[in-house]
Amino acid sequence: MLNSAATDVSAANGGTEATAAGPPMLAVRGLTVEFAAMAGAAVTAVRDFDLTIQPGEIFGLVGESGAGKTTLARALLRLPPEPGRIAAGEIRLAGRNLMELNETEMQRLRGRDLSMIVPNPRAELNPLLTVGEQIATMTRVHLRVPSREARRMALDMLRAVQIPDPERRMGAFPHEMSGGMAQRIVIAIALICSPKFIVSDDATSGLDVTVQAQILELLRRLVLDRGSAMLFITRDIGITAHFCDRVAVMYDGEVMELAAREDFFFRPRHPYTVMLMAAFSHNQRLRRMWSRPEALPGAAEPAGACRYVARCPLAQDRCRAEHPALRELALGHFARCHFPVRP
Ligand SMILES: Nc1ncnc2c1ncn2[C@@H]1O[C@H](COP(=O)(O)OP(=O)(O)OP(=O)(O)O)[C@@H](O)[C@H]1O
Ligand SMILES: [Mg+2]
Repeated sequence: MLNSAATDVSAANGGTEATAAGPPMLAVRGLTVEFAAMAGAAVTAVRDFDLTIQPGEIFGLVGESGAGKTTLARALLRLPPEPGRIAAGEIRLAGRNLMELNETEMQRLRGRDLSMIVPNPRAELNPLLTVGEQIATMTRVHLRVPSREARRMALDMLRAVQIPDPERRMGAFPHEMSGGMAQRIVIAIALICSPKFIVSDDATSGLDVTVQAQILELLRRLVLDRGSAMLFITRDIGITAHFCDRVAVMYDGEVMELAAREDFFFRPRHPYTVMLMAAFSHNQRLRRMWSRPEALPGAAEPAGACRYVARCPLAQDRCRAEHPALRELALGHFARCHFPVRP
């Protein structure tokens, strides 16, 4: 189990510098994750990635399937999907450089300071232990809380994640719970130690819309109450509009655009962001104009090109010749594009 016993997408997104209150909760610099290929060049799933998230912030990361979201999420815990490896970069959690820790130190940190929430909660839970036991184990092991106190904290946590009849549910097994309830248990496990940082990877995607909304609201409140911060990863750009303080769009391993929520949704600048938003629109003409789904990410593009060039309706010669940098086009609003939709 993964949790077992603002500006810098360069100096971009919130500043890697420490604020008066302390260092950012998460500061990622130049993170690159590769998968070795059986033949030919390695696949780079996350490219020279920068990200800064401040305490109390919920940061949304959106991108279509294959963009590299899960690879990034797992790399933050230094557990990239096999056979991936972190080829370069730095990950700082509240100022501490995780790349300098050994595996034992990382194991201590996962679930205590840094937690991950994933979909398919049943696969995450141990079918042989009661949910109360699984939650209590976290504080017993990570925080060395005595057994009775660990049970009391687990019960409080069941209440906090709004499990009905929590005393009785302490003794329930995962298979006795609905999907939504099991996801609440996974959240309880991820949050009971009040981690500094939580990565949620597509965590609510399998749930009914109404259950999803409740769980997002719950997650938001718990993160804020505990002074944590969260990277919220999803394919559903609509969710981030309600739920996240800042939003970034990832495409083929890179951030294409990053801005505060209002700016992001009301003044998008990257053609890819506009395309994603158009895909949700009921206006067919708009959808046709912006989508070129036939091209695959990065397919046959020269290394120096924009990764989005094959699908971009606004692409010009320069986009094929020169890889664009992530630039700050307005205060706190970054886009990786030579010809943004708005200057
Ligand atoms: N285990 C693996 N082995 C080899 N390549 C992988 C592996 N996992 C991911 N990749 C590569 O990394 C890219 C990014 O995959 P990743 O799972 O991170 O995408 P994602 O954004 O999470 O997609 P989804 O929305 O479908 O979950 C993939 O296109 C694939 O090329
Ligand atoms: Mg994924």
